Amino acid sequence: MVKVLRIAWGISGAGHFLVESVEVLERLGKVHNIKVFLSAAGEEVARMYGVLERIGAFPIVRESKQGHAFPSCGAFNLGKFDVFVISPATSNTVAKIRLGIADSLLSCCASQALKSKIPLILVPTDSKPVVETKAPNGEVFKIYPRKVDLEHVEALKEEGVIVLEHPYEVEKALERFL
Ligand SMILES: Cc1cc2nc3c(=O)[nH]c(=O)nc-3n(C[C@H](O)[C@H](O)[C@H](O)COP(=O)(O)O)c2cc1C
Repeated sequence: MVKVLRIAWGISGAGHFLVESVEVLERLGKVHNIKVFLSAAGEEVARMYGVLERIGAFPIVRESKQGHAFPSCGAFNLGKFDVFVISPATSNTVAKIRLGIADSLLSCCASQALKSKIPLILVPTDSKPVVETKAPNGEVFKIYPRKVDLEHVEALKEEGVIVLEHPYEVEKALERFL
């Protein structure tokens, strides 16, 4: 029998890997209990890439509707989730998590998850020296993540955070929790 996981899924304001993340979210949602944590930028960007409605099909916490203390992050302290996945994870959210800043919905949830020994899985948009990505209109372009972005990703790996290169790797990564 398959174990049903309680998954918290963070979506930050990244266009890169967004559509692929939503595909994986929908596949996993057929088997597991998933609650989405959507950053304010994530909400705007998801609207631009035409996937906001698909994300809205899940139980959801929207940063745009929260106060400044993010009480919904308390669920991580209370052991309500087996794992926290952030896919896609912007360089902004990755930097905050690495530096211990917890002033946004996703950085606060990650901080509480780590302090409560809940495993954290990240799919950063900026984890390679060159990233080819697509604008909302489908135009393809390259970005060149900064040294500091790559350093943050490496430091989080050393801390025990599970860092994946693509959202399609999330399903395999979750097998260890089944
Ligand atoms: C269309 C669009 C796409 C974006 N894609 C990315 C991205 O792939 N990676 C990234 O680090 N930031 C991206 N950004 C910038 C982030 O949305 C911005 O840094 C935001 O403050 C991140 O907030 P969050 O980390 O709380 O979601 C994008 C912005 C827009 C408007």
